[in-house]
Amino acid sequence: MIVSGSIRVPGDKSLTHRALLFASMARGRCHIGGTLTSLDARSSARVLRQLGATVAPLREGATVTITGRGRLHRPDSVLDCGNSGTTTRLLLGLLAGHRFSATLTGDASLRRRPMKRVTEPLALMGARFTGPDPDRLPITVRGGPLRPLEWRMPVSSAQIKSSLLLAGVAGGVEVAVHEPHGRSRDHTERMLRSFGYRVEEEGGWIRLAPTGRIVPFDMQVPGDPSSAVFPVAAALLAESGELRITAVGVNPTRIGFVTVLGRMGARLAVENLEESFHEPVGDLVARPSTLAATEVLAGEIPGLIDEIPMLAALATQAIGTTIFREVGELRVKESDRLGLIASNIRALGGKAEVRDNDLFVEGTGAPPRGRVITEGDHRIAMAFAVLGTLPGAKVTIDNIACAAVSYPGFPAMLKTIRSRG
Ligand code: S3P
Repeated sequence: MIVSGSIRVPGDKSLTHRALLFASMARGRCHIGGTLTSLDARSSARVLRQLGATVAPLREGATVTITGRGRLHRPDSVLDCGNSGTTTRLLLGLLAGHRFSATLTGDASLRRRPMKRVTEPLALMGARFTGPDPDRLPITVRGGPLRPLEWRMPVSSAQIKSSLLLAGVAGGVEVAVHEPHGRSRDHTERMLRSFGYRVEEEGGWIRLAPTGRIVPFDMQVPGDPSSAVFPVAAALLAESGELRITAVGVNPTRIGFVTVLGRMGARLAVENLEESFHEPVGDLVARPSTLAATEVLAGEIPGLIDEIPMLAALATQAIGTTIFREVGELRVKESDRLGLIASNIRALGGKAEVRDNDLFVEGTGAPPRGRVITEGDHRIAMAFAVLGTLPGAKVTIDNIACAAVSYPGFPAMLKTIRSRG
């Protein structure tokens, strides 16, 4: 395969969810350009409409207008968050500070994911949660007057951190959260600062003082680095050429994969760096590369958590054994990603093994051949579809349609790249 030219990837998923949530809390009209239009983004838009905001349909290439009412309002029906953990956990935090009750549910994958990690600290703040299983959806939240919170998170997680910070915003109280191993994405903190909230970081603690107010805003969402990793990887695996992915979010808490790939010998550069709406944005330029194994340390994991499926798939083509330390958190993503990464690498003729919470991938360099089981997990589907672009590969993905959870048009993008040259 020869790669060439320049592409864009869909809007950042994390920023799209946050922009929609914040806009729904503002009193007045917001305009958000570049939003992701995927199934997950639609889940946020849908539930925010049920909570009283006017959210225009999310359409590719269109600026979305959102009119918030200053607060969220009691919904008439159950809030279905689809496949989206971010929608669920961030919303549970916001709703904790609203004095009405609302019931959240989701698809089969989301109903298996742990929720106590947010409901436990939110209950300490004063919110009440009921449901058949306190750790799983469906959950009914009844918000109330909230107390300040100091909380040590068991894992570094932007979803937990953001949920608690948003509870602080909705309840007008101070919140301090501690991240144990490395920094997770800081989009919520950046947006809150732009609204005048004091958010300070020191010694792993993030402290919010409710000094701000969410007012109507306009914003442009950059391309999602977690989506960009797929065409980047396809370009690294290509035989010749160069691929540019323009206007990608390159927030340092998101691009751990660029550092790790650099260590593996990838010819990957960030160019045309600029600041846009409080976030760094740049082009990613990737060229075919010979990759060598590396060890990815526990502290690096939060900065590349969503890119591990692609990095692990790439590691099958690197010289040596790549180790990902302390990746147990992958067991509670959209699927048991840790198990699926290893079993699918083996199903394609490669070598991978999970020992405790560490993942070992041996670079056999063999052309991958076989059938991939995704369990509906978008990132598993896309990571192995990229491996299928290798010469001599024969990879079947059981459900490539699930890529639409975060990357509408993914199969078309892959074809465009493959047909080049
Ligand atoms: C996200 C945080 C991450 C990530 C998810 C999006 C966010 O989850 O896996 O895709 O937007 O805050 P954790 O924070 O639970 O690791």
